[in-house]
Amino acid sequence: MRTLNSPARRGRRLLVAGLLAGSTTLLSSQRPAADKGLKDYYKDYFPVGVAVGPQSLQGEEAALIKAQFNSVTPENAMKMGPIHPEENRYFWRDADAIVSFAQANQLRVRGHNLLWHEQTPKWLFKDAAGKPVSKAVLLQRLKDHIETVVKRYKGKIYAWDVVNEAISDNPQEFLRNSEWLQICGDEFIAKAFEYAHAADPQAVLFYNDYNTERPEKRERVYRLLKQLVDAKVPVHAVGLQGHWSLQEPTEQELRAAIERYASLGLKVQVTELDVSIYPWEKERRAKRAGESDAYTPALEQQQTEQYRMFFRVFRDYKNVLTGVTFWNVSDRYTWLDTYPVAGRKNHPLLFDQNLKPKKAFQAVVNF
Ligand code: GLA
Repeated sequence: MRTLNSPARRGRRLLVAGLLAGSTTLLSSQRPAADKGLKDYYKDYFPVGVAVGPQSLQGEEAALIKAQFNSVTPENAMKMGPIHPEENRYFWRDADAIVSFAQANQLRVRGHNLLWHEQTPKWLFKDAAGKPVSKAVLLQRLKDHIETVVKRYKGKIYAWDVVNEAISDNPQEFLRNSEWLQICGDEFIAKAFEYAHAADPQAVLFYNDYNTERPEKRERVYRLLKQLVDAKVPVHAVGLQGHWSLQEPTEQELRAAIERYASLGLKVQVTELDVSIYPWEKERRAKRAGESDAYTPALEQQQTEQYRMFFRVFRDYKNVLTGVTFWNVSDRYTWLDTYPVAGRKNHPLLFDQNLKPKKAFQAVVNF
């Protein structure tokens, strides 16, 4: 039998006290601006999302997500390696947790991603003897994977990054020389979209890539998208990852890219936004002796101005821009702390390491 002071009873008392305190705040007629989240400032423009892992679904990070955002993207949980580790085994726990959290809190979900050359499971490109599989086998595996994952979340995930980063890093080449390309030729791209569309005809299907504003890469991405559109492949939108920096893109490059892709009749989203305080580098390298990672006031100011410009442009294109998603919640944890230089702290987001809004946040919401 529980005594009056049982933990459950104490918990309920605290809950009631909390609700009363909360209702006082809600009753006050002047709701402080600090209570307004990005999603509220941008409600007449586009949803504002964030990439999350299962570790963010509780505590103060979860509270920040609920207050600020109305869309989430699983950072890793739906990539093929994590979600489909063996041919006949899926690992749903983390992806399911994110989708349940989103449903419980009225957040949209962008699925990420169905086909990529990284974070692929070991079994995917090989047969039981360890030899490369045939094109027919690989396409069948892709089809099974896409059908299983997309159907599981049908009606709960409104958009999918179907193909991620298929354009080569070498400006002289067109498609990336991945195992997908080596085994299937360029057909894997159209097939992925067709399988996804068959599995959920309502889902908005994206091609997603980085450096999509650099003029030479922009034109290669455009060429791929135009081929797909002309061939009536069900691609509906393009994801500009938005792993940007203080140096790029310029306003003119950003506008030119959005207009170029939109001219194909495609919608556009910024799917992985962060603004690095360091120039872009592709290759991983060690931290150099004496390399500073100080977040100086001058860097913070430049970053604030970059964010101000980016969101001004986003607002101008609200007719084609259907979402902006940040890649991670706050500067407490960002993938850019480990890439491209492990151990070099970055500060690329709108919330600082204490989850407090930065100057850049003010620049984004004051318009
Ligand atoms: C790419 C991928 C993302 C993520 C980032 C780095 O942009 O699309 O899923 O892996 O790299 O975190």
